[in-house]
Amino acid sequence: MTDSRPRRIGLLTGGGDCPGLNAVIRGFTRTARGRWGATVIGIEDGFEGLLEGRMRELDYQEVAGLVGEGGTMLGTTNKGDPWHYPVRGDDGTVTIHDVSARAMARIREAALDALVVVGGDGSMHIAQRFVELGVPVVGVPKTIDNDLSATDTTFGFDTAVSIVSEAIDRLTTTASSHHRVMVIEVMGRYAGWIALAGGMAGGADTILIPEIPFRWDAVYRHVRHRAMRGRRFSIVCVAEGAKLPEGGEVLKGIDRRRTDAKQLGGIGAVVARRIEEGTGLETRVTVLGHLQRGGTPTAYDRILATRFGVAAAQAACRGASGVMVALRGTGIVEVPIVESIATLRTVPPDHPWVDAARAVGTRFGDEVAHEP
Ligand code: F6P
Repeated sequence: MTDSRPRRIGLLTGGGDCPGLNAVIRGFTRTARGRWGATVIGIEDGFEGLLEGRMRELDYQEVAGLVGEGGTMLGTTNKGDPWHYPVRGDDGTVTIHDVSARAMARIREAALDALVVVGGDGSMHIAQRFVELGVPVVGVPKTIDNDLSATDTTFGFDTAVSIVSEAIDRLTTTASSHHRVMVIEVMGRYAGWIALAGGMAGGADTILIPEIPFRWDAVYRHVRHRAMRGRRFSIVCVAEGAKLPEGGEVLKGIDRRRTDAKQLGGIGAVVARRIEEGTGLETRVTVLGHLQRGGTPTAYDRILATRFGVAAAQAACRGASGVMVALRGTGIVEVPIVESIATLRTVPPDHPWVDAARAVGTRFGDEVAHEP
């Protein structure tokens, strides 16, 4: 009987980088090689590198010391979707093309038996399209935004939350010294998980997230109420995807080379200006930006990423396809990739974290009257 298990597996990291990617690469490479005798082909810069045939074999030593290293040693991009591929013409204009046939040709040329895709929502959509073309694919859920369905959490989220929490600690001392309102804008795309968890951990007074529509009067009232009670400073943690009461998200740009062209950003400045106008209190804004994605992963993310890498190697080497490794409770399971992309995992407004935050006095800008 011939052994049909994959012997040559391509591994790529796609989308925005995230702390823990290198721990996945290490966990995957060592398990696939050490336990299964497979050859691991590291693909550079996500799907773009696949299309350009930029790949190399990863050995045991090359992935040494990676468990705590931020970023991804393979590189990544969020502009390499083969079904939405930007091509720049001689006149500088960018047009979008379907170059999936080229990607399939590269997979055949490189003699890859399977593909392992470490990525978020966008990468899992692409992974699923390869599955539909007959490529055996295993997914690994990555994103600081924590917005992938079918897994309890993604690695990178814990690190981002820790960074937000520390930033709020720092902002609180200067806010308190100067009797100011500090607005902190955090990432998360269309989900408020980072603002909710980071805001709770840092003890933010107000948290504004996309899932809970807020009103200006409620935001001002809480800031004023604190000032009247002698707390002449406030911390307002706002998710980049929160929607203004007068309508819509705040965008810093549109990039048509990406599958999701919207670039969120700028709501912090709007909220700060409105609070200063509405309360008369001096207000400053901090945009945490890519600090939330850079640097070393927390211990929790290192362990989760390592477990995901090991589980993905076991799944791919066994011959599994169309599945993503996922955390359920304390165990790692395999779920259909389609389940992970069916809906974006946003914060349920009645989530227990929201309830706990409200119980300790945190406001979400939707309160109708002030409670003590
Ligand atoms: O999805 C991760 C994320 O950091 C989002 O929170 C954010 O909106 C986006 O990526 C930023 O993307 P870029 O690095 O391309 O500016």
